[in-house]
Amino acid sequence: MAPSHEVPNMPKTPHYASHDGFLLPLGFPVEGLASGLSYQAAASDVFVSTYPKCGTTWMQHIVWLLAHGGRPLGADERMTEAFPHLEEVGRELVERLPAPRLIKTHLRFEMTPQHPQARYVWVARNPFDCAVSFFHHTRGFVQHYDFADGTFDDYFECFIEGRIDFGSYFEHLASWGARRDEPNLLFTTFEAMRADPRAAVMQVGRFLGGPFEASVDDPAVLERVLEHSSFASMREDQQRWSSARPVDAPPFVRKGVVGDWESCFSSEQAHRLLAKLEACTAGTWMADLWPDTLERARSR
Ligand code: A3P
Repeated sequence: MAPSHEVPNMPKTPHYASHDGFLLPLGFPVEGLASGLSYQAAASDVFVSTYPKCGTTWMQHIVWLLAHGGRPLGADERMTEAFPHLEEVGRELVERLPAPRLIKTHLRFEMTPQHPQARYVWVARNPFDCAVSFFHHTRGFVQHYDFADGTFDDYFECFIEGRIDFGSYFEHLASWGARRDEPNLLFTTFEAMRADPRAAVMQVGRFLGGPFEASVDDPAVLERVLEHSSFASMREDQQRWSSARPVDAPPFVRKGVVGDWESCFSSEQAHRLLAKLEACTAGTWMADLWPDTLERARSR
């Protein structure tokens, strides 16, 4: 793999490190991606697989709570250590985790280490809200993107073209979407989790089985999982989820709603992203995802 180097950018675009064309936030260790890609998945592994800003941390905390009888991650604990990001930290650190290893990844399916018995929880989110959330993320982590003064209009062009970290939203969606029926894959959406968190937690517990399922079968534990994975609880002690952000940047757990995009997008942007999503999902089961959001975008 070629050494990391910065991609020359036009003014007002975020900066990234390119690893053989795969963009990562600045400061992600050069070795992490290559090492992570070489990880041999184990039968007991639990992966949370998402495109960034689609509810990764929320699902990670649900899985963590299910694995720990409803005990939340403590104020002095870090999700980056308890449930590490494979392509950031690399193989060796993940291999040292106790089984079942809890692993986060933003990689496309083809890049993700596979084991037929490992379980993969894939969370998707509509691209409109994802783009807005990713914009705030990119502006806020100045050390990773150097984009503090970037506008949503600037960011939108990068998002729609996939010139951002972890690649194109649409390639990620298509790649995981083609495997939806794999028996070791659970698919859910941010929107479904918002609409019915209890059903989402039950679904994850049943899918993962063993101690995870025991947690949803115990009413007291289930209530703790729901409480500690709620938006209000996850707004607390946010140092648990991410590295520091400037005081004037929105927090990592920011709004947590469906439809925030409507106040940011122009109608031209809404129609362009809609057309891109429709082209990506045409003729597939994914064309029926997010009907309300698509309707709102069409009517803009
Ligand atoms: P917003 O920026 O739209 O608020 P990720 O973990 O993949 O980076 O996703 C971050 C998004 O998930 C943010 O969206 C964040 O607010 C939202 N989120 C995190 N925890 C949540 C929770 N418990 N309930 C609802 N949304 C949550």
